[in-house]
Amino acid sequence: MKIILICATTLDGFIARHSNEKTNWTKDLSLFKSQTMGYPVIMGSTTYETLENELVGRKIIVFHRNDEPKEIINELSISHKQVFIAGGGKTNERFKNYLTDMYITPHPIIFGKGIKLFESSSSMISTKLVKKVKVQNTSSLYQYQLKVESIK
Ligand SMILES: NC(=O)c1ccc[n+]([C@@H]2O[C@H](COP(=O)([O-])OP(=O)(O)OC[C@H]3O[C@@H](n4cnc5c(N)ncnc54)[C@H](OP(=O)(O)O)[C@@H]3O)[C@@H](O)[C@H]2O)c1
Repeated sequence: MKIILICATTLDGFIARHSNEKTNWTKDLSLFKSQTMGYPVIMGSTTYETLENELVGRKIIVFHRNDEPKEIINELSISHKQVFIAGGGKTNERFKNYLTDMYITPHPIIFGKGIKLFESSSSMISTKLVKKVKVQNTSSLYQYQLKVESIK
């Protein structure tokens, strides 16, 4: 099963200015919607609380601190070909070692501080660019689809 992290980031690698921020600075929502439609989407409880709209058409799994990523993955792999990990930084960190792919859309802004893509990672993740997708209705935004090659 493909386990795909999907996320918008700033140029300096942040995904939000603080935990409770609603992610309204991103411009790739329609891409997120079309790519995740029909697939399970795993997100942390804090991210879930920041959602302004229900993610219709997708099975949302809200991840809590006592949940076991491996158990969730094993269960989903019985009936799904791919699942998405949709943040936040704490949840991305918990699923980091299981990721097969990452769909990252860097936005041309800098926060300086905030919530990192992976909360506390000191690992080095090596990836290979598979595809670059232009975000519709923007002049310069691209989503980078990366295959995870190693995590050390
Ligand atoms: N740019 C993007 O594409 C994007 C995507 C997703 C999210 N975000 C942003 O990311 C932010 C949220 O990220 P986040 O990392 O704060 O939260 P998160 O990963 O969404 O959720 C917090 C997770 O950490 C657990 N947790 C909370 N406090 C803990 C503690 N002291 N010790 C251990 N586990 C703990 C929670 O479990 P419990 O439920 O048990 O507390 C939950 O599983 C929001 O601002 C959101 O808008 C941005």
